[in-house]
Amino acid sequence: MMIRIPHIVAHRGASIEAPENTIAAFRVAQARGVNWIECDVTLSADDQCVLIHDDTLERTTNGSGPIHHHDLATLRQLDAGAWFSDIYKGERIPTLSETLDTLAALGMGVNLEIKPSGCDAMKLAGEVAREIANRKDVPILLSSFDRDIVAKMAGLCPDHDCGWLVEEIPGDWQAEYKRLKASALHVDHKQLTAEMCAEITGENVPLICYTVNDPDRARSLLSWGVSSIITDNPALMTTVIPPIK
Ligand code: G3P
Ligand code: MG
Repeated sequence: MMIRIPHIVAHRGASIEAPENTIAAFRVAQARGVNWIECDVTLSADDQCVLIHDDTLERTTNGSGPIHHHDLATLRQLDAGAWFSDIYKGERIPTLSETLDTLAALGMGVNLEIKPSGCDAMKLAGEVAREIANRKDVPILLSSFDRDIVAKMAGLCPDHDCGWLVEEIPGDWQAEYKRLKASALHVDHKQLTAEMCAEITGENVPLICYTVNDPDRARSLLSWGVSSIITDNPALMTTVIPPIK
């Protein structure tokens, strides 16, 4: 099984134009003609699924300290938009359930990256599985750098695909990919060559690349068999690549 996803996926939303991992960034992605976003999910201190990339709050909010030391009520009081621009003052850290509701209403899909960021990885896997179990209204592709999470999701969420995220492709990737029961390989595009793409897709493994902000590079990757590119700049990418397969 591999869910079909478009050529262009907006990384943390349209993160070049709006604060990453916010509802505003997801709406901007759609306004640029891109119907799939990637976002990062982790746990609050009271085990609620929230969207944020870093382990700590400083870079993208007006809070401080590790995310998983704060409960949801505290996280929801923080401003997650003003750091980016005054226009986005008042944006909140989204919950996963609010995000899925919004994406369903907008007719969008999501690559949900499961990122422990210091919280209990298995607990996070379980909470994500519980939240997406009955969501038939949003197309979801899971992914994680955490191999234990990837392996766990196949059992927890048999109806959802889970990609294995890597920065560099390990030498033994084929055996590990099978062991993890992964559904796709999500790779940092910088190291990829046409030969490597051919090797991977030749094994019928869907290949997704992050984070691609150069249209020429995106065109090359797609011509080498890459299924989708994850970009900060959907507005630029849609000028050269048809957004929907
Ligand atoms: O899922 C692709 C990409 O988001 C992985 O890296 O650090 O941006 O979450 P990062
Ligand atoms: Mg990510």
